[in-house]
Amino acid sequence: MSEAADATPWVPESRDLGDLESAAHECRGCELWQPATQVVFSTGDRSARVMLVGEQPGDREDEQGEPFVGPAGRVLDEALAEAGIDRSAAYLTNAVKHFRFEQRGKRRIHQKPDVRHVTACHPWLDAELAAVAPAVVVAMGATAARAVLGRTVKVGELRGHVLEEPDRPVVVTTHPSAVLRLRGRDGYDEAFAGLVADLRLAAPYA
Ligand code: URA
Ligand code: SF4
Repeated sequence: MSEAADATPWVPESRDLGDLESAAHECRGCELWQPATQVVFSTGDRSARVMLVGEQPGDREDEQGEPFVGPAGRVLDEALAEAGIDRSAAYLTNAVKHFRFEQRGKRRIHQKPDVRHVTACHPWLDAELAAVAPAVVVAMGATAARAVLGRTVKVGELRGHVLEEPDRPVVVTTHPSAVLRLRGRDGYDEAFAGLVADLRLAAPYA
């Protein structure tokens, strides 16, 4: 089978989120679908004002089929609560919808998606943006920032303020997994506070 360039052939015309999610289960837009358990599409509904975009599902998300249900999701939950954003009123998704990992014995080790995976999966994100039309998008981490802004950026240079992008305001921040990696170490409190501060920039749009 020759490889498809991106997800376009699998994205339906419909902008109903249920239709999009069902169709995404069939996506073969890149090779990541094959070793993964299932697609992890999104959670939240079309009336959400805040769209949060992560990198890709992790191990737990891959098993449960829901984004941000694992340890990074708990960091995100805490940060959202502290920033005054109701998680249930937000739309949560990822730049890449299948878990990319390397199998080592029984463990599945997270592997960062390549730019080509982000590009292949982008038609889904475009469809979600059209379906939800959020008032603000929060891109968490460099992969999400690339997917949302369409260019390679440094998170450290863009975070801390609202970017007035042509389609809608965007806030770029650290990925909650990066905050999680500092847990129990110097720098955790500061990293967590930074995530909260960036989420607070999005709160007025909620
Ligand atoms: N990290 C992400 O980027 N997305 C998830 O859904 C979970 C962890
Ligand atoms: Fe399709 Fe995205 Fe999964 Fe690749 S990662 S198969 S483009 S849904």
